[in-house]
Order: sequence, then C-alpha cells, then structure tokens
Amino acid sequence: MRVLVVGSGAREHSIVLALSQDPEVTALACAPGNAGTATIAEQHGLDVTDPAAGAELARRWRADLVVIGPEVPLVAGMADAVRAAGIDCFGPSAAAARIEGSKSFAKDVMAAAGVRTARSEVVDNPARLDAALARFRPPYVVKDDGLAAGKGVVVSADLEVARAHASTLLEAGHPVLLEDYLDGPEASLFCLVDGETVVPLLPAQDFKRVGDGDTGPNTGGMGAYAPLPWAPPGLTQQLVEEIVAPVAAEMVRREVPFQGLLYAGLALTSSGPAVIEFNCRFGDPETQVVLALLRTPLARLLRATATGKLAGEGPLEWADGSAVTVVVAAEGYPGTPRVGDVITGADGEGVLHAGTRRREDGAVVSAGGRVLSIVGTGPDLAAARDDAYRRLAGVHLAGSHHRTDIAARAVAGEISIPTAE
Ligand code: AMP
Ligand code: GLY
Repeated sequence: MRVLVVGSGAREHSIVLALSQDPEVTALACAPGNAGTATIAEQHGLDVTDPAAGAELARRWRADLVVIGPEVPLVAGMADAVRAAGIDCFGPSAAAARIEGSKSFAKDVMAAAGVRTARSEVVDNPARLDAALARFRPPYVVKDDGLAAGKGVVVSADLEVARAHASTLLEAGHPVLLEDYLDGPEASLFCLVDGETVVPLLPAQDFKRVGDGDTGPNTGGMGAYAPLPWAPPGLTQQLVEEIVAPVAAEMVRREVPFQGLLYAGLALTSSGPAVIEFNCRFGDPETQVVLALLRTPLARLLRATATGKLAGEGPLEWADGSAVTVVVAAEGYPGTPRVGDVITGADGEGVLHAGTRRREDGAVVSAGGRVLSIVGTGPDLAAARDDAYRRLAGVHLAGSHHRTDIAARAVAGEISIPTAE
C-alpha cells in the first residue's frame, strides 16, 4: 500500500512513523512534511490549503491511501477532491469537517443528538455584545466561531478581558461564541469513525496553556499523556455511548456522514462529561502519545475506515504502560516565533519533529512555533514522564521553552473528577 500523509507537524511525524512500521505499507510520502518526516518518507511540496493540488499529488504519486492530518485542508475539501480522483482518503468531507470548522454547526449537531455541552450564544454584532455578556457569569469563555489553531479562546474571570477579546474578534469580522464555563479535568478522546461505526482509541490529556501550572495564553498544545490513570473504569465506553456514537449517528442522519478521526475534547464535570469542542482530525500533541502505545498496524486500520470497512476490524491492541510527550517551542511562541535557529540532538528515538527543516548545509533548523515533540514511554506514567524529560535533556535549541509539569499532577494523584454537591 502506497500511503501519502498530508501535513507537517509532529502529529504527521508520529503518523508517518506508525505507518512505516506496518508491513502492508510499501511506500510512504509526506507533504509538505518536515526534517523528521524526511528521514522516513519521501517529501513533496504541497500547499495544504489547495484541495486540487492535494488530489493531483496523490494521483501523480499513485497513492493507494491519503491520510490528511490538519483541519485546514479538510475544511477546504481536500478529502472530497482526493476521493473524486478515485483514491481512498482517511479524512472527512468538507461538509462533515464543519463539526470543527464551525462551532455553531457543532452546537447544532450536539443539540440534535442530545449531547451535553456548554450553553452558548453566538454574537456577530458588536452592539449586542454587552447584553449577551450579561447573560453569562464568570469565568467568561469567549471563542472565535471559526478555525483558530487553538488560540482563539479566552477564559477569564475578568469581564473587561472577556469583552476586549470579543471586541477584537468582532472588529476583525469574526463571529464570537460565548459559553458557560465547564469545570473538571479535560480529556481528549479520539475515535475512528466510519458512518455509524465508532472505534475509540486510548483517552489522553493535553496541556493547552503555554506555562507551568496552566498559566499564560492558550497554544496549540504543549504536551500530553495517555492513558489517564485517574479515569474511572468504563469511562471510554461511556463517552462513546453518550457522546461520540450519537453525534456520528446524527451526522449520518443529516447526510454528512463522518469518515476519519473524530476528536471529542471533553470536560469531565461534576454533572457528567460535556463536550468542549469536536475536531475533525487527530489532535496534536495527543496523537504522539496515543500512537506510541498503539500496536495494531495503523495503515490497515486507516484504510478500513476510509473504505467503510471499520466494523469488520478486530479489537485494537495496545502496549501496556504509558506515554508522555513534551513540546519544545521556539522563542516567542505562541506569539511570533523566532525561526532559523540550529537544533542539535533531534535525531534520537522519541524525538518527533514539527516546525523543522533541513538547511542546505545539512543542519536542522527551527521553522515554526512548536518545533519538536519529545515522546517518552514506560511501564507507568511516572516512568514515561521521566523518559520524556530525559530525552528532552539531550536536545538543544537556542531560546526554546517547554513546560516542566506535563503529567506531573496525574503522577502525583492530584486529578479527580469533581463530585456533585
Ligand atoms: P477550544 O479551542 O474550544 O478547544 O478551547 C481551548 C481551551 O479553552 C480548552 O481546551 C479549554 O481549556 C478552554 N475552554 C474552552 N471552552 C471552555 C468552557 N466552556 N469551559 C471551560 N474551559 C473551556
Ligand atoms: N490538542 C489540541 C488540538 O489538536 O486541537
């Protein structure tokens, strides 16, 4: 099987790595990729915002399967274009990708499917902002209604901060979503979805804020771990039954069946699990830990999903133990990152590349905000965490920063789901 992966982050490096270990894969390409994917897959240039260019590359490279990593090409319709070229594609249609691309569409689907999520209101007129804010209580949750790479959300107890963020979005012409605050720990559940068939992967938790102790602005994600030692037995099954399966069924009912990876971002609140958001693709950095533990060959699984045969696959196999990933970010991230710095020590095991490229002189240099994603594994979460930070100590990038507390509270047993009063 010839597999083409679209994207250039550590998520795609992790997907390419897992595919490279599947004996059914005879050739691998990544477009546009990074310096890490280039060591295990052919690299091809690609503008990921151009669906026709993706389909054309897949045709020219004679791909049997295309796996689309990021949301931008999916929302733009690249999966539709690839399928129209007669090539199997893992990833939802543009119509189904709206579950991520439009928060108000996602809310509508959830309401129809009877799935718990925060009460929300869309504001598209600055004159209505204050009245709308008055219908919410602190902490205020203000979101960009469209795609914002994880950075469009402000959660603040300060009404002025909330109003300022909403005004900035509105001035830029973006509708704003106001939401009730959801308490409780967050979890990410990835499910392979092919119409009404839902196969969950291991639950994970990611760390969205830039700083230790969940301080500073939101980012695309600074680290993750899987599985969740604090999750009650049966949590994954409950999440599938109460949340993901009803949403998958509602998408089928609307004649926009989802096919690909449906990612439920959840808050495990005192009154039960509730959806923070849906994403239409593998999450980054959670993929790096989930795939580090998956033992079932990945290409076969993704092709089964892409061809409507997921229901015929056996149960997934997982390694015992845990995985932790820590993101190394460039100076300035999540603002404007400094790029072009030389990275050393980034060719070891467990070092996944994101914003990297190889210079003509052979040096690997930074080329984006999130630069590397260091993955550690071990028999338990404490061991996996130690492994990740030990590997990270061997990597050098001038000016870089990373969180030092990824998975620390889970290791210390400090995470629990709040109980109802
Ligand atoms: P999103 O882009 O919707 O995933 O939001 C990014 C982050 O903002 C989430 O991972 C949460 O940490 C936080 N967040 C978003 N919505 C809520 C909410 N309703 N209540 C509490 N935290 C939220
Ligand atoms: N881990 C957050 C995301 O992929 O959106």
